[in-house]
Amino acid sequence: MEIYDGGADASQAEQQAELQVEGVPEFAEIPEEVHAPLPVAELHLHIEGTLEPELIFALAERNGITLPYADLDELRARYEFTDLQSFLDLYYANMAVLRTEQDFADMTRAYLTRAAAAGVRHAEIMMDPQAHLSRGVSLETCVNGVASVLAGSEQEFGISTLLIAAFLRDLSEESALEVLEQLLAVNAPIVGIGLDSAEAGNPPSKFERLFARAKDAGLRRTAHAGEEGPPSYIIEALELLDVERLDHGIRCMEDSELVERLVTEHMPLTVCPLSNVRLRAVDTLAEHPLAGMLAAGLNVSVNSDDPAYFGGYVDDNFAQLKSVIGLSEFDCVRLAANSIRSSFASEERKTELLAELAASGR
Ligand code: ADE
Ligand code: ZN
Repeated sequence: MEIYDGGADASQAEQQAELQVEGVPEFAEIPEEVHAPLPVAELHLHIEGTLEPELIFALAERNGITLPYADLDELRARYEFTDLQSFLDLYYANMAVLRTEQDFADMTRAYLTRAAAAGVRHAEIMMDPQAHLSRGVSLETCVNGVASVLAGSEQEFGISTLLIAAFLRDLSEESALEVLEQLLAVNAPIVGIGLDSAEAGNPPSKFERLFARAKDAGLRRTAHAGEEGPPSYIIEALELLDVERLDHGIRCMEDSELVERLVTEHMPLTVCPLSNVRLRAVDTLAEHPLAGMLAAGLNVSVNSDDPAYFGGYVDDNFAQLKSVIGLSEFDCVRLAANSIRSSFASEERKTELLAELAASGR
C-alpha cells in the first residue's frame, strides 16, 4: 500500500482513500479515545535533552553529586527560557550527573520507554560527545552507554534507532575534527553527524572541513540551521556542508526563494514546535509557521528536540498542534509519512513503517 508522498496532484480525498486498508476501520469509525498514537520517526532528538528532573536527582544521588537545586520544584523553576543560550546553560550544567556508562544507558532507556508510548517506531538520536569529553567523561563511556541500549532497542521497545554525533558549533572546527577522528578510529556506531549548540555567530561555513571529512568517511549529514540564525545559514548548510537534512529550518519562511528551493529539493526539515515556543523562536504555538510550511509544500516532520525541557514528547507536540492550530488528522499522517521517508533508515525499514502507518487506518 502506497502512502501519500506529498505529491501536489492528487486531491486530499484521493490521498486519504489511498491510506485506507481493507478490513481496517476508517478514521471516523474509531472512537477518539482508542486512537493509538500514529507510528512516526523521531529525527530530531538530543538524548541529553531527555534527562527528566527526577532522573537528574536520581543520578546525582547515585554519583554523590550535590546539585545547585534543593528539590524538583527548584529545578523546574529554572525551565523558563528567554532564548536558546539560556536553555543551553542549564542543559550543559545538568549533564554533570552523567558519569558512568550505566548513567548514559539509564537515560537512553528512559527515553525509549517514553518514546514507545508516543508512537515513535524509529528514532535518530543525537548526542553531544564534546560536552562529555570536556567534563572528563571518556568517549567510550558516553558512546557505549547510549549505544549499548540502542543495540537492543528494536527488540526491547519496537523502535529501530540510529546514533548521530552532534558537534558544538560554539567550539572550534579543530576540536570537532579531533573528536570525529577519535569516533572513526574506534569505529563508533554512528550513522552520521550533526551540528548544534549556539547558532548565532557560529555559521555553518565554520565547519566546512568537518562535514567534508564526514562525507568522505561515508557518514550522513544534518545540521541545525534557521532556528535562531538567519536564512543565509540554511543556504550555507546546503551549499557548504552538503547536508541531507536541516534541523529546525523554520526561518526559511523569511526567504521565498529559499522556500522554493527547499520544496524542489524535497529537503527534510525537522521542526520542533514546542521547542520553538519555549526558546522564544516563535511567540506562541498559534503563530508557529508549521501550517504555512506544510501549505508551501515543504518536507516537514514534527519532533521533540529536548522533550524533558520543552514540555513534551512527540505525541505532546502533535496533541498541542491539534488543539491549538487545528492540525488535521490528514496533516498528522502527512507529517508522519514525511518523518519516515526523511529518515536515514534502510529502504526496507521505511517500507515497513509506511505500511504500518497505512494500516493505522487514519
Ligand atoms: N542542543 C540541544 N538542543 C538544542 C537546540 N534546540 N538548538 C541547538 N542546540 C541544541
Ligand atoms: Zn536540536
